[in-house]
Amino acid sequence: MAKIIAFSNQKGGVGKTTACVNVATALALKGNRVLVVDLDSQGNATSSLGFFDKNLHNSTYSVLVDGANIKNCILNTETNGLKTLPASKDLAGAEIELCGKPHRERALASALEPIEDEFDFVLIDCAPSLSLLTVNALVAADGVIVPLVAEYFALEGLAQMMNTIRLVKRSLNPQIDILGVVINMYDARVKLAREVKAEVEKLFKDRVFETTIPRNVRLAEAPSFGKPIALYDNKCAGAVAYDALVQEIIQKI
Ligand SMILES: Nc1ncnc2c1ncn2[C@@H]1O[C@H](COP(=O)(O)OP(=O)(O)O)[C@@H](O)[C@H]1O
Ligand SMILES: [Mg+2]
Repeated sequence: MAKIIAFSNQKGGVGKTTACVNVATALALKGNRVLVVDLDSQGNATSSLGFFDKNLHNSTYSVLVDGANIKNCILNTETNGLKTLPASKDLAGAEIELCGKPHRERALASALEPIEDEFDFVLIDCAPSLSLLTVNALVAADGVIVPLVAEYFALEGLAQMMNTIRLVKRSLNPQIDILGVVINMYDARVKLAREVKAEVEKLFKDRVFETTIPRNVRLAEAPSFGKPIALYDNKCAGAVAYDALVQEIIQKI
């Protein structure tokens, strides 16, 4: 059975996609069978893995809305063992179309069922919202990883997200838990960053990963080449940090 992990934070630009793609790659390079599900109509995870066509016919949208067979929609990536269910632009309309369907919160969970034995990990890249698609991710997932940036507004909105997770846990998916909070673009020399980190640790205690991800320009460059950091520059500080984070994730599971 695959371990299903959602990367979620309703704030944009905190590193959900970067974390999802690079954790997935690091897991695959350790010999795991990994699937990245792109659940954001912007399709950033899809392009970060080398697929720049935003009009794909076989995508998350086809699976969730048209009931397409997920096995026909999964693509191999450049990394051995790493596959993706890509997002296309039309995923933006999926919310509205899903709304009228029965079991609309379970569309993704049901779609993943037939392939759960084919993967060790399924990582879901969520959009920056608490929309029905994100609820679908939380219903399907065993755990949530919350990336955040240690800035002034970091904690804003997080209470609402915790509340959503609590509601999902109570009604739709009792097994869901926060696997961990990962602090991204961290610079320990900045006082505010240290303060926000301390605040996050007070709130989430041992659910904050010890590994922090530094601001690293290589991490920002890699997606434009359609490559995860491990293939773009596996020695840079960003790649080293993601390796350490994956060690921690494996230990926690
Ligand atoms: N540690 C990092 N150092 C430098 N740039 C980063 C880092 N993490 C993410 N980025 C860049 O910041 C932007 C937002 O990251 P992204 O992963 O797309 O966030 P989200 O998916 O939460 O919106 C992207 O351009 C990404 O390349
Ligand atoms: Mg994203």
